[in-house]
Amino acid sequence: MIVVSRQHPISKRYVPADPGRNGLEKPAAKALARMVAAAKADGITVVVRSGYRSYAEQDAILKSKIVEYGDEKLARRYNAEPGKSEHQTGLAVDLWDGETWGTGFRRTAAGKWLWRHSRDFGFILRYPPGKEAITGYAYEPWHFRYIGTAHSLEFKANHTKTLEEYLGID
Ligand code: DAL
Ligand code: ZN
Repeated sequence: MIVVSRQHPISKRYVPADPGRNGLEKPAAKALARMVAAAKADGITVVVRSGYRSYAEQDAILKSKIVEYGDEKLARRYNAEPGKSEHQTGLAVDLWDGETWGTGFRRTAAGKWLWRHSRDFGFILRYPPGKEAITGYAYEPWHFRYIGTAHSLEFKANHTKTLEEYLGID
């Protein structure tokens, strides 16, 4: 299981092995397509905001967010440094409904649907509320990490919240 976080950086040159749609690793891309279709069947619109991001793209994002927020500390609670973003693995995806972006997404129909159903498709909410000290990031109701159902259903069964706790790592 690949882990990328503040404590576990990834090489600048790392790229997904077999990228599909949105630059995501194919199993993740396929699971995402199934999840989006299931949401649609429930009348819920789920849109991809960001999939794979290169080291250089992550570098540009963090820099622009520091300017946009006017608060570097706050920007870093939501945006990883290059080499420390899960998006570079092609296993993480930011989702929204095409209307409400930001923390308010948690209150939308799509945000609630994903909170409830994402684990059934192999995804976990990677930065849940109240776990910033463990994950290193503030609550991001939009950021999902593909780990496969063999693991994600364990999260569901055992009410596990973070990948760090699940794997027993820092
Ligand atoms: N928003 C997450 C932490 C990232 O930038 O990878
Ligand atoms: Zn993200």
